[in-house]
Amino acid sequence: MAAQTLIERLQGLKAQVASLPSPADERELEALRVKYLGKKGTVSLLSQEMASAPKDEKPVAGKLLQEVRGGLETMLEQARVRLTREKIQKEIEQEFFDISLPGSEPEFGARHPIAAVMDEIVDIFTGMGFQVEEGPEVESDYYNFEGLNFPAEHPARDMQDTFHLTNIERLLRTHTSPVQVRAMQKYGPPLSVIAPGKVYRCDADITHSPMFHQIEGFTIDKKITMGDLKGTLQTFIQRLYGPKTAIRLRPSFFPFVEPGAEVDVSCVICGGKGCRVCKHTGWLEILGAGMIHPNVMRASKIDPAQWSGFAFGMGIERIAMLKYGVDDIRLFFENDLRFLRQF
Ligand code: PHE
Repeated sequence: MAAQTLIERLQGLKAQVASLPSPADERELEALRVKYLGKKGTVSLLSQEMASAPKDEKPVAGKLLQEVRGGLETMLEQARVRLTREKIQKEIEQEFFDISLPGSEPEFGARHPIAAVMDEIVDIFTGMGFQVEEGPEVESDYYNFEGLNFPAEHPARDMQDTFHLTNIERLLRTHTSPVQVRAMQKYGPPLSVIAPGKVYRCDADITHSPMFHQIEGFTIDKKITMGDLKGTLQTFIQRLYGPKTAIRLRPSFFPFVEPGAEVDVSCVICGGKGCRVCKHTGWLEILGAGMIHPNVMRASKIDPAQWSGFAFGMGIERIAMLKYGVDDIRLFFENDLRFLRQF
């Protein structure tokens, strides 16, 4: 008998494949795939022979090869779907599932203590008529220093441990006070603004973090006095720490206020009697404040002969540490769930 042509053998294969029984399990399925479609499978070997087949046989042989391969692939895929469905059906029938068992409880997220304290403070001030403003964390020297009456080369700049960016004109803001200048220029007086946000200083130990949060506040209007400043801060502190809390102002220096003050609150731990936290003084320093310097107003085109204002700024981490009795600032940023769950 003469040797079969490639076409004849492909026709034979096509008939054989068409009468194959569908595989009964996954092992049979895989064996069939390897036998016909694997690297050394029948279909693969025949397709290698295509190269040496006579030219006039090639179109017919090619088409047959496609049909055989396509038919096999469809058959195997249908078998795979059927076997999977059968397997799931069997599992459903055999397995016992106790629907009365309690489920696993989903974990709920919670506010970070810093965000919570920040919101609380912002709420107290918006309740007093302040509007919320934000500014960029990457600032220019102008807004962080120059417009706040820090002249170039002034030693007060050194108090701030500034992170300068490679482009010397930009820096990470060292305080939220630049928002004072931005808001004054944007709105003009009269104006009451509260400005929460992140600030950066090159400093790190148990009470200093290179990134921390501040809230700035200021009011500009006609005939604003130091008395307005003290009254506003006292109202704020009593809403935050309770009506028995007292404040006191001590003279201090910031280039953008005159006069300037540091504000203490009666110790929130011992109530003013003296303890380790207040170093037995009965007072805790929590704020910088003062009357907005005429140079700051002039830099923002506000006439200091007509308008006056007060400004204050506070660190949120310090307030949160005192509120919750946390003694290491780094705990706020390590995101250890055992710590965060306590709030
Ligand atoms: N910006 C000052 C600081 O970061 C705080 C401050 C704000 C002081 C407003 C006075 C007025 O230390």
